[in-house]
Amino acid sequence: MKNPILILSLLLLASCGPKEPALKDAFEGKFILGAAVNTQQINGKDTRGDSVLFRHFAAIEPENCMKSAEIMPKFGQYDWTLADQYVDFGSSHGLVVYGHCLIWHSQCTPDFCYDECGSLISPELLKERMKQHITTVVTRYKGRIKGWDVVNEAILEDGTYRKSPFYQILGEEFIPWAFQCAQEADPDLELYYNDYSMHEPKKLDAVIKMVQDIQARGIRIDAVGFQGHIGMDYPELGLYEKHIRRIKEETGLDVCITELDMSILPSVTQSADVSGMDFFELMRNPDKREAYLEKADPYRGNFPEDVCAAWNERMGQFLEMFLRNADVIRRINLWGVSDWDSWKNGWPIPGRQDAPLWVDREFKLKPFLKPYLDE
Ligand code: GLA
Repeated sequence: MKNPILILSLLLLASCGPKEPALKDAFEGKFILGAAVNTQQINGKDTRGDSVLFRHFAAIEPENCMKSAEIMPKFGQYDWTLADQYVDFGSSHGLVVYGHCLIWHSQCTPDFCYDECGSLISPELLKERMKQHITTVVTRYKGRIKGWDVVNEAILEDGTYRKSPFYQILGEEFIPWAFQCAQEADPDLELYYNDYSMHEPKKLDAVIKMVQDIQARGIRIDAVGFQGHIGMDYPELGLYEKHIRRIKEETGLDVCITELDMSILPSVTQSADVSGMDFFELMRNPDKREAYLEKADPYRGNFPEDVCAAWNERMGQFLEMFLRNADVIRRINLWGVSDWDSWKNGWPIPGRQDAPLWVDREFKLKPFLKPYLDE
């Protein structure tokens, strides 16, 4: 075929041919589909996942770059470089941009709650500092960030408050105060409380009580984030569903499924809290490390077909459940774009390889999603 016009027309025709439908469109009107992005993706050093992100996801969250220790290495001294790049990255690609997280005990600016001698600061000073930090960050991105995780992980599985420095200084008050500051800084912002293990009944009861307390004070909170760091053997799906509905029934709030990733590996713990493990010993002692990995990472990146099928079946059941409750669920946010990006690789010790996300290492959507794309 030598005719260049004919070749050009054929190429044009081929490029206009049917494209794989987009996941975000399949769920339109039900919930917003988002994914967390990491530093390398934000600064353009890792563009491998970009096309799948832009095609299938409607929103982004920052995996780390907006946590207080990242954005403010020392109290009051900000480094906006990455956070600005993150917001620009999202808006330049037409993605809805979310913020994570304003007040969290972990990855927290070291001197946020302490004076120069290392003692906890006074309640008055902490309130002032919280207001200063929240106002500064929220105001900077006003109108560009749709919603913030205002407080992250303040309640434990047994329903008691985490004894974080924020709690030690202000008691339960630090939570409504954080929401009040965020609301004042940007009245149009969506405000969320975000936590893991929301299938734990005592924890759920305490979160509901905390939300009701915020509401009783006339302070706004818009949704509760159920972190979706789940496993093949937890949580029980029915209980998770019941708890999603309880949030709506007992507080009127929506739920966001946040940080969704389901480890394909045997569970080591149900939360990111592995403080009881002796990592140094595991890292120092190759035999112990190997013995640990044999249990915690039996596949070493070669996931057997039946294991992948079981993962797809369970994730498919969760997705069906999310769709059944789309009247309550506002957003689903994966904690990473593809299996390459997941924090679960190398967690809790280096060398562990997981496959917890909806997009595999070849940047293909996993099989459980096929029915939604065929519709
Ligand atoms: C918590 C945080 C996230 C992330 C994960 C582990 O769930 O909310 O930002 O740090 O732990 O990666």
